[in-house]
Amino acid sequence: MKLLVTGGAGFIGTNYIHYVLDTHPTDEVVVLDALTYAGNIENFQRIEHNPRFRFVKGDICDAALVDKLVQQVDAVVHIAAETHVDRSIHNADDFVRTNVLGTQVLLDACRKHFNKRFHHVSTDEVFGSLGRTGIFRENTPYEPRSPYSASKAGADHLVSAAFHTHGQAVTISNCTNNYGPYCFPEKFIPLFITNLLEGKKVPLYGDGMNIRDWIYVADHCKGIDVALRKGRNGETYCFGGRNERSNTEVAQMILFEMGYGQEMIQTVRDRPGHDRRYAIDPEKAETELGWAAETPFLHGLRKTIEWYKTNTSWWKRIKNGEYREYYEKQYGVNGITGPAPERPFDIRGEKT
Ligand code: NAD
Ligand code: DAU
Repeated sequence: MKLLVTGGAGFIGTNYIHYVLDTHPTDEVVVLDALTYAGNIENFQRIEHNPRFRFVKGDICDAALVDKLVQQVDAVVHIAAETHVDRSIHNADDFVRTNVLGTQVLLDACRKHFNKRFHHVSTDEVFGSLGRTGIFRENTPYEPRSPYSASKAGADHLVSAAFHTHGQAVTISNCTNNYGPYCFPEKFIPLFITNLLEGKKVPLYGDGMNIRDWIYVADHCKGIDVALRKGRNGETYCFGGRNERSNTEVAQMILFEMGYGQEMIQTVRDRPGHDRRYAIDPEKAETELGWAAETPFLHGLRKTIEWYKTNTSWWKRIKNGEYREYYEKQYGVNGITGPAPERPFDIRGEKT
């Protein structure tokens, strides 16, 4: 297959394109990525000379560009999005534009060009927040609670509408929290690991008892790939790690593995509207697709810590902004790119 992968310069996109090139020896991958603050072409160092890989810098909202690229491929794996909840609380504009409008632009191009296969990568956050009990499944009603999850919910509905209205060949996957290599160090696990590597404290929101269901990114990538190749049109597949942990528990595991004590935790003001608990029942994906999350959490966490220890220059260049210069030298600055925006520390009332 020849795939168009949107958002291939981000965390999951990078892991996914490496997975495809490594496991499908005749597949070709075209990446379309706008290189926002979260996209990093330094991620392509291992594959940039692979003849089966091509990178196009561009915006998924650019209908003419998307139209041209969709014509050239067999299927689209749509991974691009604005993804950080804290940033969406700060300013939702880019979330609505990229996540909602961008998804419709891709769907329109797929419909126009002989109903190209379209897989949409989404999140468990569209289902809302759980209390102590309960679990999200494919038929759980949507109840998004942050601007980020509301924009992802809007995208999911557009994909579903494309199936019901136009009979388009679409699938959706909703996954829990990913961790692993190449995750931008503004998210919980890489932020905590890299702060500790710099000898800094780690900011734990609120009472630290919010629960997430963590999945190693390679397991998610296998799920995306099997949903693309084996999923039934119009279906949704939920992926999760069967691995619920409170933030305090994850923080303590990272501290222990890195040889630090409790004193490195700094409790900070809570995220507004902070969802309490997410959990996915992945049974449909397991039985129908033959997929399962395979990486035990401690093993995956150790691999992740090791990756950030080994790839110090990757995250240091992000934290100090130098990674912008690398691609600006290669591609020049245009309307889409610019200096990495400040992380919106102000919503927590302090910097770390
Ligand atoms: P990320 O923020 O690391 O990467 C997003 C990528 O999309 C970046 O490379 C960015 O440059 C690109 N992008 C943003 N706007 C674009 C635009 N307008 N045009 C082209 N490219 C654009 O995100 P991630 O964590 O890798 O998440 C990828 C997808 O997976 C998202 O759709 C997200 O909702 C979903 N997801 C993420 C998680 C998680 O835990 N990270 C869990 C479930 C689902
Ligand atoms: O559930 C899937 C979602 O997981 C994806 O759709 C999102 O794109 C991804 O960002 C992630 O969202 P979360 O908000 O759950 O992830 P984040 O890493 O921002 O936070 C994880 C938990 O850790 C959450 O309860 C907030 C908390 N946290 C986060 C940060 C950044 C802290 O306590 N301190 C922090 O500094």
